[in-house]
Amino acid sequence: MSISFATLNGANAEAARSLLERFWHQPWSADFTQRFFAWRYLERSNCEVLLAFDGDRCVATLGSVVRGYANSENLLHVRETFDWFCLPEYRQLGIGLRLIKQMMDKPEPMIVIGGTAATRTLLPRLRWRSLGQVENHFLPVSGRMVAAFALRKMRSGSERFSRAIPKILKIRRPARIAAPRGSAQVTASLTEVPNESFLCKSVGYALAPIIDRRAVEWLARGPAEVGKVLTLFFRHQEMSGMSLSRVENRPEGPTAKIMHIQSSDMTPEMADWIVSETSNRLIDCGAGFIFCRASCPIINGALRRIGYLPGRKVPAFWWSHDAAPISGMLHLTRMIGDDSIDFVL
Ligand SMILES: CC(C)(COP(=O)(O)OP(=O)(O)OC[C@H]1O[C@@H](n2cnc3c(N)ncnc32)[C@H](O)[C@@H]1OP(=O)(O)O)[C@@H](O)C(=O)NCCC(=O)NCCS
Repeated sequence: MSISFATLNGANAEAARSLLERFWHQPWSADFTQRFFAWRYLERSNCEVLLAFDGDRCVATLGSVVRGYANSENLLHVRETFDWFCLPEYRQLGIGLRLIKQMMDKPEPMIVIGGTAATRTLLPRLRWRSLGQVENHFLPVSGRMVAAFALRKMRSGSERFSRAIPKILKIRRPARIAAPRGSAQVTASLTEVPNESFLCKSVGYALAPIIDRRAVEWLARGPAEVGKVLTLFFRHQEMSGMSLSRVENRPEGPTAKIMHIQSSDMTPEMADWIVSETSNRLIDCGAGFIFCRASCPIINGALRRIGYLPGRKVPAFWWSHDAAPISGMLHLTRMIGDDSIDFVL
């Protein structure tokens, strides 16, 4: 066996797609898989994918995307990895390790949130630093969806029995909290995305992703089956903010994820306004269950005040050539790698 390495390109895309179909392991149609792969890999800017081949056969992959981050007052380009996979028959041969080490040789620092047991075991051994835990929260809105999630956890397919529960039964609809003071405006738009300097100034965080127009437009261009993106902009006197969410059709029913929240002045009042307004609009779009992930204590405080329940915490890892620590408040959300995309379609 002679293993060679390559970067994803037009000529090897077909082989990479066949491998990723094994990783994703979903009963998707050939048409959807094709569109999903093209969108996720070929139409995404700053995306770089490493592949390992045994002859013509693609046997392992590691995807990455580079995003701007506000690092206190500086702009930092950070590599986010995803889809790290090696065919079972090629594991424990050092191929996966070589892929991640090739990524680590690139100039940018790298960040990972969560990951499988393999990721959590391997990264500290490769001298990645812990960035602490990122909190998950969820808001159960409809009684039917709560039952559907519980049933599906026990056995896939059994969520259909939840249809016996009337749709109308709502468990929790958060109160609509007004803007901090006086007149304010909320607009839903995809065409108007704040420029990078706006978001850079917004922070005071030690690390926060910069959500630029390209990233939002790419999300919105995704196949319809992946879900509907909702982008909200909040304006109030000198302050502004945004939230970026997606409503997905899961087997349990329509589910929303708040992928990112950002503000030029993240006070508890501003966070309460953004979280409550976003949640209510997602419920208006039909969401019966809402998830949100955040490391910022102000956003997590708002989620709890508005009625969200705490979920599982996930670890975050950081790697950089100079091994400089990142200390201070972090703003990490689902806008990283592929975490904004669900696999249960
Ligand atoms: C993670 C993965 C890509 C590693 O590929 P690989 O080619 O088998 O890895 P290597 O042979 O280079 O290195 C394996 C090292 O990782 C460790 N490792 C691999 N899978 C592991 C797991 N599930 N739990 C803990 N450690 C694991 C091994 O112990 C080994 O270390 P060792 O050499 O000291 O024993 C592969 O196991 C895989 O595809 N897993 C399923 C998908 C996955 O979990 N992806 C990661 C998150 S996206």
